[in-house]
Amino acid sequence: MPVLRQARVSDHGTIIACVQQWWADSRTPAQARELSLLLPKLFLQFFSGTSLVLEDEAAGIRAFLIGFHAADNDEEAYIHFVGVDPKLRGQGAARRLYTAFFQHAAEAGRTEVRAITSPGNTGSIAFHRAMGFSLESGDREVDGLPLHSDYDGPGLDRVCFYRKLAL
Ligand SMILES: CC(C)(COP(=O)(O)OP(=O)(O)OC[C@H]1O[C@@H](n2cnc3c(N)ncnc32)[C@H](O)[C@@H]1OP(=O)(O)O)[C@@H](O)C(=O)NCCC(=O)NCCS
Repeated sequence: MPVLRQARVSDHGTIIACVQQWWADSRTPAQARELSLLLPKLFLQFFSGTSLVLEDEAAGIRAFLIGFHAADNDEEAYIHFVGVDPKLRGQGAARRLYTAFFQHAAEAGRTEVRAITSPGNTGSIAFHRAMGFSLESGDREVDGLPLHSDYDGPGLDRVCFYRKLAL
């Protein structure tokens, strides 16, 4: 059973290597590299205190969550990226990471968690629904899914999730 611990800045290289390995089957090497660009070192330099990893003594990091508490208000927390080793998926690893993040955020006085994903990431949408997130109304709907058009730039539509927290 992997152990849950706070992330450290020294995990950065391993996390980048994990992303490139774990997505190797579903993406080209160039796409996997592009994905790893979502995780510049700054996330671990400045948000390791709110980010988490699941670590096996033998196999090393098996899952991670990069998240933070908003600097611009006292209410929100945000989950930027979660990844689970494909061999460990479907066994509650991401649920463990999210549950710990929710608890730490609530203890710090945060009342809401937010996250986003791409409209095509059906696994992520199902996962966030299972974790109690609601989908924020968008400017249009496709197949019943509320979309925020051009959210991250031209053509980069997103689905936006929010979930209330209680202690
Ligand atoms: C999405 C992801 C993080 C889920 O991790 P996981 O460890 O397999 O998820 P868990 O086993 O903790 O599942 C928690 C709940 O979500 C549901 N769930 C998880 N993945 C799902 C999927 N692909 N389809 C449907 N439901 C899913 C589970 O059924 C479970 O529900 P339950 O507890 O009510 O039974 C993992 O598949 C992953 O790393 N995907 C690629 C990266 C990604 O898409 N990240 C999110 C966007 S940044």
